[in-house]
Amino acid sequence: MESLYSAASIEAAKSANVSQAEFEQRYLESLENPNEFWEKEGKRLDWFKPYTKVKNTSFERGNVSIKWFEDGELNVAYNCIDRHLATHADKVAYYCEGDTENSDKVAITYQKLHDEVGRLANLLKRQGVKKGDRVAIYMPMIPQAVYSMLACARIGAIHSVIFGGFSSHAIADRLNNCDVKLVITADEGRRAGNTIPLKHNVDMALENNACPSVEKVLVYRYTQKDVPWFEGRDLDWAVEAENESTSCPAEPMSAEDPLFILYTSGSTGKPKGVVHSTGGYLVYASLTHELVFDIKSDDVYWCAADVGWITGHSYMVYGPLANGTTSILFEGVPTYPDFGRIGRVVDKYDVSILYTAPTAIRALMSKGDEATSTSKRDSLRILGSVGEPINPEAWSWYFSAIGNSSCPIADTWWQTETGGLMMAPRIVQDNAKPGSCMGPLYGVKPALVDAQGNFMDAEGVQQEGGLVITDSWPGQARTVYGDHERFELTYFSTFEGMYFTGDGAMRDEDGHYWITGRMDDVLNVSGHRLGTAEIESALVAHPSVAEAAIVGYPHNIKGQGIYVYVSAVSGVTPDEELTKSLKQFVRQEIGPIATPDLIQWASKGLPKTRSGKIMRRILRKIAANEQDQLGDTSTLADPSVVDDLIENRLNV
Ligand code: PRX
Repeated sequence: MESLYSAASIEAAKSANVSQAEFEQRYLESLENPNEFWEKEGKRLDWFKPYTKVKNTSFERGNVSIKWFEDGELNVAYNCIDRHLATHADKVAYYCEGDTENSDKVAITYQKLHDEVGRLANLLKRQGVKKGDRVAIYMPMIPQAVYSMLACARIGAIHSVIFGGFSSHAIADRLNNCDVKLVITADEGRRAGNTIPLKHNVDMALENNACPSVEKVLVYRYTQKDVPWFEGRDLDWAVEAENESTSCPAEPMSAEDPLFILYTSGSTGKPKGVVHSTGGYLVYASLTHELVFDIKSDDVYWCAADVGWITGHSYMVYGPLANGTTSILFEGVPTYPDFGRIGRVVDKYDVSILYTAPTAIRALMSKGDEATSTSKRDSLRILGSVGEPINPEAWSWYFSAIGNSSCPIADTWWQTETGGLMMAPRIVQDNAKPGSCMGPLYGVKPALVDAQGNFMDAEGVQQEGGLVITDSWPGQARTVYGDHERFELTYFSTFEGMYFTGDGAMRDEDGHYWITGRMDDVLNVSGHRLGTAEIESALVAHPSVAEAAIVGYPHNIKGQGIYVYVSAVSGVTPDEELTKSLKQFVRQEIGPIATPDLIQWASKGLPKTRSGKIMRRILRKIAANEQDQLGDTSTLADPSVVDDLIENRLNV
């Protein structure tokens, strides 16, 4: 396997845009002289007003401030569309592959993208959406989702995409947090042969004036389902757009104006609205996309993510479009109608770069031949992985079975907050190790710290600690929407003067990084980041539940599964029916992605310290079947609670 991998990367190196030697030299330049490095890189975009300042950043607690290219002006939609028109208006921006498999190829050219985005941008303007207003996008994976993002960018509205797997409660929280003015949705979405009641979920979220800032709901009639209509609030996309002009001037934006807000989970409290910038974000998304995936003008690139997550923003929409790339926009799931779908889509469009998540790879791997027997996949030249640690077995299978042992793998480590890729093996690196994200990209200065914040920087030895980044990079999030204090507290207060990622990592003797997973209570289920607090507060809203705690446990396909411990209110005797209804309740409140895998009723309550704090560490150990490694239990208020939990532990 190792030699096959080396051969693949040596082959890739022959035509690579950037050699390893050049990369290493430029990496050093990016650290030694960031202003000069990024001054040049910023020019990959078209600016309405050129910047004269490049980096102006501080990680100092109490004074965290991140600015890049601050006096420059540009427009993201202009950079993603208009500037390509002179030379390749007819180039395909997206091939749209629907949920149901058929032989049609629906292509959206850059010209078509321009026209549809212009029409929608004019429509939004006519509805009173102005620069700086917030617009929520709750859409299926169809081109209208991308039009919506770009139309906002074109007029300077800040979009907040809400993943289609979230339900009413989660939607309402997000709409209220950033005072959304207009919601864009569809009657229904399609997924794995089912329909998703998107409009219904929005209606539920807005019920009883629960989100008072929302004035209008723009509905794209996609499946043509007859949905309830609220006159004065609901607008029919097709009707409203019909007479709009396709031409809408691109609003000049300051590089530091927010482009979008994306909600992500932390260990405490409600999800945070992570705010990304216009200039620095796009420079970084464009550069990392081109560098890591070695993008060429004739590539057909497929990032099989959802626009509801940061991967969808940076590597399905903004990075690829800024680079004038042809992408696939896939509405469905890798396992429908069968496990061979990914391979067949690759063949249908001659996909050359495939970027997906370990959870999908493990699901396909579990079916072996079924995943590969109906396709050849010989158009592929590069594979990518994102979202969670990839186990070596899945990595090897991805390489040999999906990639026919000829495609190097970029295992990209990054986060919602980082805006773009931070560490990844370069495809020309013939020493890539399965499961390691290897090392940093331009401008990224990673380090390991111990619990006291001391650097663990010994060379030539293996060390493990908290992963921090010691200086700013242009793609970095600027703040948490409406709560800069929380931004500072979450990311810059654990270790003084550094960005703390929340991840633990190991650095091996060769200096290569291996992400070991979250150090906080955040779960990573099928590559989706879920906060414990949000799910727990949904659970305790159920009338039969007194207390709830959730933890992750190792899951073969999902990476982590959701294990719930609940205690019932007095007078309620839990049974199978109640357990089922609790799962259903969470689906309804937060969404299918948060559905508990296992629910254990804790008849004696949850393990707490004498001061009343739930000891999650113990719950995690029990869920993982490691009850022999509970660690220090001396602070437990009532040790018999733990015995009861172990005795009634569910088999995972
Ligand atoms: O724990 C890391 C894990 O996913 C977290 C970030 O999740 P999110 O903000 O949802 O962004 C996911 C897509 C970038 C990280 O803190 N993670 C992400 N990529 C990897 C990873 N863990 C290991 N290896 C990766 N390649």
